[in-house]
Amino acid sequence: MPLPAQVWIVEVGLRDGLQLAGQVVPVEAKLRLLRALHATGLRAMEVTSFVSPAAVPQFADAETVARAAVALPDLRVSALIPNLRGQVRAHAVGIRHVTFVVAATDAFNVENVRMPVEESLAHLAPIVQAQRAVPEASVEVGIAVAFGCPYTGPVPFEAIRKIVDRAVALGVGGIALGDTIGVATPEQVYLAASRLRDAYPNLPLGLHLHDTRGLGLANVLAGMEAGVTTFDASVGGMGGCPAAPGATGNIATETLNQALQERGFVTHIDQGALLDCARLVHELITPDLPSRAPSGQPSPASLPGPRPGPAA
Ligand code: COA
Ligand code: ZN
Repeated sequence: MPLPAQVWIVEVGLRDGLQLAGQVVPVEAKLRLLRALHATGLRAMEVTSFVSPAAVPQFADAETVARAAVALPDLRVSALIPNLRGQVRAHAVGIRHVTFVVAATDAFNVENVRMPVEESLAHLAPIVQAQRAVPEASVEVGIAVAFGCPYTGPVPFEAIRKIVDRAVALGVGGIALGDTIGVATPEQVYLAASRLRDAYPNLPLGLHLHDTRGLGLANVLAGMEAGVTTFDASVGGMGGCPAAPGATGNIATETLNQALQERGFVTHIDQGALLDCARLVHELITPDLPSRAPSGQPSPASLPGPRPGPAA
């Protein structure tokens, strides 16, 4: 299967990345990072979560961050929601694109959002309904632990398929498969994505890959070969999940951007500016980043050898 002609990076550092930060990051630091990320050329960002501030205090400032993000030009802003209340809050501050999170297993869903999968799915119909009333709005479903669950182990494809069938029947705009604990293999990713693509050829597919075992990039390539076009990534590779102890961050945006550019994709994201953002994360948020970029590695522009294509 040929690779897709165009793929998109969704920066999720301000959401997934900050979820596990040891302390609540001051909103000024988030806004500084938001603007620096936007200046790299990134054109899609998931900027916050409209969740219960009691569950995740980090996102008590969701409205402030969201308002600043929607004011930026040429940026597709999205946010994570666990229920209708989250979507109402998101729409109220001008965010049109939401990612509704549901896990592939009851055990993880209960840990994450305090309800079994069926109960989460019952929230989806009114969410899709509400989206129809807002011009150019969309709902994507993010399936957490789609490849493996920290509580119940391997996840059968049928568990994903059941959620996707329900979501598609309701009319959602896309599905993202989340490898929340970073256990997926390229074979698994390829198989799951191609089975979904065969079942729903027009359904936009995304991947949300944690890099716990260093297979993130290999999984991106396997996903692309199966027709996946959207990939989440987190600057500096920061992040984790409160319901998945030990899981590390997403694939680092700078690693993904460089890999895509080297394969000839025009991402329009400035790699040097992205590395500066990773350093900013290092300085403002945490010195403990999985990505090696902030530790003083030369940027690819100063390395000999093939250079990225025409991306700005
Ligand atoms: N935004 C803000 N507050 C919300 C909310 C939302 N989207 N949804 C519920 N709440 C509030 C309720 O109003 C209630 O507030 P109160 O105690 O002041 O009355 C409180 O949260 C509890 O509401 P309830 O419906 O009983 O929720 P719960 O305690 O069963 O928790 C969730 C369910 C989904 C709200 C909560 O578990 C959550 O926000 N989880 C998110 C976890 C997360 O972000 N994980 C990582 C993402 S993958
Ligand atoms: Zn995640």
